[in-house]
Amino acid sequence: MLIGNKRRIIYGGDYFPEQWPEETWQEDIRLMKQAHVNMVSLGIFSWALLQPDEDTFTFDWLDRIMDMLAANDIDVCLGTATAAQPNWLSRKYADILFVRENGQRVAYGSRQSYCVNSPNYRKAIHRLAEEMATHYKGHSALALWHINNEYANKNSMCFCENCEKAFQKWLREKYGTIENLNESWGTVFWSEIYRSWEEINTPQVSAGGRNGTKLLDYKRFLSESFLSLYQEEYNVIRAITPDVPVTTNFEADWGKFDHYKFRDYLDVASLNFYPDPGNPAAYKWSALRHSMIRSLLQKPFILMEQAASQVDWYPVNAIKPPDLMRLWSYQALAHGSDSVMFFQWRASKQGAEKYHSAMVPHYGEKSRVFREICALGEELAKLTDIAGSNVEAEVAILLDNDSWWSVDSPYGFGLKSLDNELFWMSNAQPFPSVLVSYFAELEYYYEAFHALNIPVDVIAVDYDFSKYKVVVAPLLHMVKPGFKQAVEEFVHRGGIFITTYFSGVIDENIAVFQKGYLGPLKEVLGVKVEEFNPLLPGASNVMNIGGKIEGFAATYGCTIWCDVAHATTAKTLATFAQGFYAGSPCLTENHFGEGKAYYIATRPDPEFMRDFVGYLAATRGIEAHELPQGVELVTRLRDNRKFHFYLNHAKEKRHVTLPHGRFLDLLSGENREGALTLDRYGVSILTEV
Ligand code: GAL
Repeated sequence: MLIGNKRRIIYGGDYFPEQWPEETWQEDIRLMKQAHVNMVSLGIFSWALLQPDEDTFTFDWLDRIMDMLAANDIDVCLGTATAAQPNWLSRKYADILFVRENGQRVAYGSRQSYCVNSPNYRKAIHRLAEEMATHYKGHSALALWHINNEYANKNSMCFCENCEKAFQKWLREKYGTIENLNESWGTVFWSEIYRSWEEINTPQVSAGGRNGTKLLDYKRFLSESFLSLYQEEYNVIRAITPDVPVTTNFEADWGKFDHYKFRDYLDVASLNFYPDPGNPAAYKWSALRHSMIRSLLQKPFILMEQAASQVDWYPVNAIKPPDLMRLWSYQALAHGSDSVMFFQWRASKQGAEKYHSAMVPHYGEKSRVFREICALGEELAKLTDIAGSNVEAEVAILLDNDSWWSVDSPYGFGLKSLDNELFWMSNAQPFPSVLVSYFAELEYYYEAFHALNIPVDVIAVDYDFSKYKVVVAPLLHMVKPGFKQAVEEFVHRGGIFITTYFSGVIDENIAVFQKGYLGPLKEVLGVKVEEFNPLLPGASNVMNIGGKIEGFAATYGCTIWCDVAHATTAKTLATFAQGFYAGSPCLTENHFGEGKAYYIATRPDPEFMRDFVGYLAATRGIEAHELPQGVELVTRLRDNRKFHFYLNHAKEKRHVTLPHGRFLDLLSGENREGALTLDRYGVSILTEV
């Protein structure tokens, strides 16, 4: 990455020297050099030390370590320290602490306990950012700013008075008149009509199902609040140090706010990755998240945190056995990361995270983990050419936060339950089936492409998707103004568009489209939907292809849901075999201009997904690779040079047949032709010679 004008893979992690006596800092620097560390993140949770009271700022200790790092050629990604406010601040301004849905204000004593809309918190972070930026402007170690830490991790939903007032203001700006709001929210239902802005409360838990539009607007409002909170610091820092790039590290799961909205305010996107080493399919989970963060700015990203071995917050925290940390680091690089960074450099002796692994474990430098850290650092130091290269995808999956929040509970994800009481608590608004999950559907489609090693960008629904060959919008429940035209133009010019069941059902205000679901997508798809049938747990139907697509099986199973649809201009490629709607279409294809639009009325079994994605790739000239189970291939490109990452996620050796040509393996230095053997958790990076 070209941060600090150096082409290199960034290697390092969160560093908390304030937890250690200064003698340890000397040892840290020695070990960092040994491990080839070239960047550390400093200051992230150090607000209480930097500002011991309202009128005092002290940077002495931070100056000393910044200078030591500069003298040793180690760059600093400087945290603005705002994710954990000091005790004195929370005591002085009680409104800083956020309020849970049940009305309880959280107590001081952890991090991310602040309310996103607290004016006192905002004033304080503005001032701290200003002091820090002024103090460190021009410091030779300062390479990157790191604002806050994992926005919304714990405090994604607040229901305090400040949020209520800010919500009322936000609504007034959005709707202009209270009549407009009542109409858009459909408040005539259950006698909810509001007569003034002041009457509108936050949508806390009530007696039963709540107004979905109000819930969604509250979620949108809080989502925008996190962006404006970020901008509070970003604008100050930008103005004082215009040449230093700025980022904030996101969590890997994106449901809490709309991450794509940060797009114009990030110089580089960065993500924290903690896949579960106890899950053999964890690499699929990671691949999707890597693709999401890469797609945000459509350029290389920073892997800001991962664990050297185990974390401390899964119910049972599996260790990363030898070579797994290395493999997952290369997986991040393969998907477009220009860094390998960890939480954290030295394992804490005290505090909430003392059982979390680190680059330097409690055991010290003679440990297995530190040996692996050093070995990886040595390898990465030789891979400078890869930095700045990117993954190029011909397929895009569209992610729509509004559809996500309308299908899954906006108040927490994965809370859906078949238990009736839990269902009502976690589903703030009724929905036809708890088995349906927006994000799970998106994941399912991503995995079908990933299984054939086809690179996929995961972009926001309002990004420009005209350059892709295939665009998939799984469960696009909400269709907003502008989308119909964008998708029709895309297909008209030759693109392939695919969408699924329960799509095109509601508009941006959650009002249901009349005269057939699929709403504004009816023309491009050539289908309309009359009713829907959520299948009971364990129930299934059958997709009957009956020879209509060459190379496909005669039938495939399907689960979760069946839309009862009528084809208008579309050709029916498969029909349901069971139920009173047997014979109605479950897979259709509509020729529209130069392109085609497909509609899938159900959740097909994986066998169908494999054949369908294979068919799309073959007919649209998209490169697909069927590799032995557990082997992943991702290619990065820069200046016409390709870097093929072969990653073996299996616990056994794998043999891979290579495409025609001669390759150099950048890791082993050996030439390869014809075939490749990958050890358990083995990696090869091949480039054509
Ligand atoms: C992240 C966080 C880090 C650390 C890490 C532990 O969510 O940003 O500060 O707590 O988790 O896994």
